[in-house]
Amino acid sequence: MGRETGIWLVGAAGMLGRQLAGEFASRGWSFFASDREVDIRDPRQLQAYARPRPIAWIVNCAAYTAVDRAEDEPEAALAVNAAGVENLARLAGEIGATLVHFSTDYVFAGDRAAPYLEEDEPRPLSRYGWSKLQGELRLVSCLDRHFLLRISWLYGVHGTNFVHTMLRVFAEKERARVVGDQFGAPTYAAALAANIAGLLQSDCERFGTYHYCDGGVISWFDFAVAIQELALQAGILAKRIPIEAIPTCEFPTRAARPLRAVLACARVQDELGFRVRPWRANLEDFFAEKARHAGSEEPRRGRT
Ligand SMILES: NC(=O)c1ccc[n+]([C@@H]2O[C@H](COP(=O)([O-])OP(=O)(O)OC[C@H]3O[C@@H](n4cnc5c(N)ncnc54)[C@H](OP(=O)(O)O)[C@@H]3O)[C@@H](O)[C@H]2O)c1
Repeated sequence: MGRETGIWLVGAAGMLGRQLAGEFASRGWSFFASDREVDIRDPRQLQAYARPRPIAWIVNCAAYTAVDRAEDEPEAALAVNAAGVENLARLAGEIGATLVHFSTDYVFAGDRAAPYLEEDEPRPLSRYGWSKLQGELRLVSCLDRHFLLRISWLYGVHGTNFVHTMLRVFAEKERARVVGDQFGAPTYAAALAANIAGLLQSDCERFGTYHYCDGGVISWFDFAVAIQELALQAGILAKRIPIEAIPTCEFPTRAARPLRAVLACARVQDELGFRVRPWRANLEDFFAEKARHAGSEEPRRGRT
């Protein structure tokens, strides 16, 4: 049996969860998967699920991810992103499992030019970012056997994300206005999933906090321009529309976002052997993946 047995994928119906489920299935791996039906806010539900199963890895993709809504219901965000993560960490400790967990660049204020290192001080601007930071702190204090991966601007073929939103805008509108003064890097979910699968297969025990995103630094406007260009090439869009770069102040949102939260990814490459590819190469792969998925969308939930 390989190291990758006994995987429990939590939050398996979300954007990243579905990507990981597809990645594991494509490798012929058997794994346990749950989403809302096993509520991470409830330790008893987690224990009842885990007890009869031989779980060695918990990969947690479950989260409260409604960034703007969290400003109005911070307790709901904390219940999932902090208490829920602590519940998973405690359970992992009890059963001797390793926990892979995801956090966000939104734990940083994004007010400096240099990329953020893992040990840089978090200072979230939003209640979502705050709730994710509380989850990080509880995980680190409860469990040694963890891989905590901060990622940014996640997108992929599943679910709602910036790329899908832009594709809809380009198809339906005559012009688009996109924020041009917020900088960062996207994280292509399929590339992340392949790296996570590699981690599960390895004997690596270099537990700790890591930053991961695609290579390069861009604005949302840059990203939108590339999305339109590649979608036109792929034949997904029939026409080109003008895209205007606007400042953040012209696109007010309930939650404040970091203006420049670039994650430094050297450690995850050096220590965990993750492959970091340029954002544009990954966006090209996204369109190829999207073409393969067209008409063959798998059911949202399931367990293998
Ligand atoms: N999306 C991004 O741009 C981004 C950026 C940086 C980091 N991240 C982090 O990456 C991870 C994956 O994000 P994602 O975009 O894939 O999230 P997502 O699509 O929102 O998926 C989260 C999943 O967790 C489920 N869930 C929510 N509360 C739960 C609970 N109490 N118990 C069990 N399951 C629950 C959700 O169900 P419902 O849909 O029914 O709520 C959903 O299926 C998260 O940790 C997120 O914070 C995301």
